[in-house]
Amino acid sequence: MSKSTDQSAVTVLGLGPMGRALAGALLDAGLRVTVWNRTPGKERELVDRGAVSARSAAEAVAASALTVVCVVNYDAADAVLRGEAVTDALKGRTVVNLTADTPDRARDTAGWAADHGIRYLDGAIMTPTTTIGTPEAVFLHSGPEELYQEHRAVLDALGGTHTHLGEEIGRAASYDIALLDVFWTAMSGYAHALAVARAEGITAREFAPFAQGIAAILPALFEEFARDVDSGSFSGELNPITSAVSTMAHIVHASESHGIDASVMRATEGLARRVVGLGHGTDGFIRVTELLGRR
Ligand SMILES: NC(=O)c1ccc[n+]([C@@H]2O[C@H](COP(=O)([O-])OP(=O)(O)OC[C@H]3O[C@@H](n4cnc5c(N)ncnc54)[C@H](OP(=O)(O)O)[C@@H]3O)[C@@H](O)[C@H]2O)c1
Repeated sequence: MSKSTDQSAVTVLGLGPMGRALAGALLDAGLRVTVWNRTPGKERELVDRGAVSARSAAEAVAASALTVVCVVNYDAADAVLRGEAVTDALKGRTVVNLTADTPDRARDTAGWAADHGIRYLDGAIMTPTTTIGTPEAVFLHSGPEELYQEHRAVLDALGGTHTHLGEEIGRAASYDIALLDVFWTAMSGYAHALAVARAEGITAREFAPFAQGIAAILPALFEEFARDVDSGSFSGELNPITSAVSTMAHIVHASESHGIDASVMRATEGLARRVVGLGHGTDGFIRVTELLGRR
């Protein structure tokens, strides 16, 4: 069997919490799994479950047609993949890079792979380690469709849903950063809200069910705002941005009266005020997207 087509073996480079979860799911699916991590020791439990521990990254990638990479960022991935011995061993094989970083880093890595005869897919994992190997896991992929289909069976062994977003290699990372933007700004808002609530004598436990009520409003708003942004029409008939700005000012004042840093809310208020200043006060909040997109 050619080194690029054997689907029964897979290598995992990087054994942080996510790399270990990926390798564990692949073992559970009955694949021959070879693992390697920069710092030894993290492979022990996987070896007990049947994984082969390689002595070097080059030895690891030579063991399988497909190598899954999952390290902290692309600086780390480059440090592992671009060593001469690893690059040589990867020639004619496939790398699926599930490390998170920017779309440009994905494109750069794809260029490097093409220059060295390495078949390359990029990807992103959108759910926590506990979902890996379960139906809840969400994976995004980009790169050559044919290559994706060729390795689909191994990718499916990771569980969950897999979406191929297109041939443009940066696409998965583009979705990843935009989705993580939603996540981390929402988390900042929640952290701030908990601090304000606590200053007003409300415990986080008391507050949480009501915060979940706010979260439940968001899916319908995401749909509505998507239509507005794609069509370029931002009706604020039911909730004009002038009204939203007033609410934001209350939040800033209330939190600062408790000595709580309101910089996240101030940034949002500042954007909304700029939209009003540009004469769009009767539009809805999502007009802010247009403002941010101005060159
Ligand atoms: N954890 C999650 O819930 C989650 C969810 C979605 C996506 N992800 C993504 O998955 C990737 C891995 O995450 P993680 O949770 O496993 O933990 P992590 O802390 O992001 O990554 C740890 C891994 O990176 C390796 N590493 C760091 N610097 C290195 C270098 N210079 N050279 C070689 N290896 C290096 C570590 O090796 P050492 O052990 O030697 O330090 C370890 O294997 C990240 O891109 C993360 O954003 C994670």
